[in-house]
Amino acid sequence: MSRPCAANWPSWRSEPPGPAGPPTSCAWPGRRQGAAAVTEPGLPIDVGAYDQLATMVALASPDGRCLLANATLENTVGLSRRALQRGSVLDWLADPSQLRDTLVMVAGNQVATSRFDALMKRQGTGGGELPVHVIVCQTDWPDCVLVEMIEIEQQIRLDREERTHGLAQANKELVRNLAHEIKNPLGGIRGAAQLLAMEVSSKELTEYTRVIIHEADRLQALVDRLLAPHRRPQVVADVNIHEVCERVRSLILAEFPRGLSVVRDYDTSIPEFRGDREQLIQAVLNIVHNATQALGERIAAGDARIVLRTRVVRQATFGRQRFRLALELHVEDNGPGVPEDIRDRIFHPLVSGRDGGSGLGLTLAQTFVQQHHGTIDCDSVAGQTVFRILIPLP
Ligand SMILES: Nc1ncnc2c1ncn2[C@@H]1O[C@H](COP(=O)(O)OP(=O)(O)OP(=O)(O)O)[C@@H](O)[C@H]1O
Ligand SMILES: [Mg+2]
Repeated sequence: MSRPCAANWPSWRSEPPGPAGPPTSCAWPGRRQGAAAVTEPGLPIDVGAYDQLATMVALASPDGRCLLANATLENTVGLSRRALQRGSVLDWLADPSQLRDTLVMVAGNQVATSRFDALMKRQGTGGGELPVHVIVCQTDWPDCVLVEMIEIEQQIRLDREERTHGLAQANKELVRNLAHEIKNPLGGIRGAAQLLAMEVSSKELTEYTRVIIHEADRLQALVDRLLAPHRRPQVVADVNIHEVCERVRSLILAEFPRGLSVVRDYDTSIPEFRGDREQLIQAVLNIVHNATQALGERIAAGDARIVLRTRVVRQATFGRQRFRLALELHVEDNGPGVPEDIRDRIFHPLVSGRDGGSGLGLTLAQTFVQQHHGTIDCDSVAGQTVFRILIPLP
């Protein structure tokens, strides 16, 4: 996995131990969250780099004393770094026995790395218990063990994102090449049919040429859509996400003046970001269009509802990267939900769950959002479908 992760981060192991030996909590008076990565005086490693990691990382002594905790750990546990570094890593788990034994085994060189699942206790505002995957491994310092914890849900999501990303790249390449291959003969077929139409006098035969031309045009339109994201260069300017939402809202309400309410739930403090406004309008429009298609019956009944919700999220991890700040746009509808048999594949090209659908709307939306270093995912149950667009903010 290429995601930054302490346990497989080679640079960290190659760092030679400094004269000060392993870091101690008193040697590190608690760094400001988000501070630039620097080498703290007296520490043998670049401790700031730990704060760039999306997973929770601590250094501990074999008896569990916490020597160092990173920013993600601080945020997730809900305690300040000072408080974490005054305590024991054993206090963070609902049942610390396995971690206690593992720390001793790893520090005693019986195993180099050990992994297990556990429940982490959360303090502060979050509260409750969080299922985590724990990785304990050796460091280059005696009596200092690295403890890494990954939220299990986050791990599953990251694995899924990774798989989807790889597949999407391969699909994109295939579709693009295929579209190019179809385009040239298609022009020839259409041209020949036109010439033929001029030659034949029988009405019946002219009908055949008309069908050929019509179908060639339909195929041409499909190919044009397939190639759309690669054709026009990005026009980058400052984008206000609410202008994008408002534009989509007015287009949809013009199309469905009755039976559908498009509710705004905006966080107006979201800053502008650099991007291609038209691409983003197209992406949101494709998603909202799908919602209106799924809402057909409810529009007829008069109680169809789409919510456009914007929020800022801090420390978001997506697209195999961690972002300090990101924009989240939810498009929520009260329709019947995405058909279960295609739920895992809706972002793949040519996957459609409706008659007459070409299965390109979401592929294009995902491509446009990815061009903004963002991603789209979907959560759907009958009565509530949410498409979530995430885009990094400056
Ligand atoms: N909000 C939604 N509710 C239910 N199903 C949805 C929703 N959004 C998407 N889908 C399902 O996902 C499928 C894929 O959507 P996508 O936009 O990629 O293609 P399409 O709408 O079938 O065709 P087109 O290329 O014309 O957009 C849809 O056919 C539909 O079955
Ligand atoms: Mg669509």
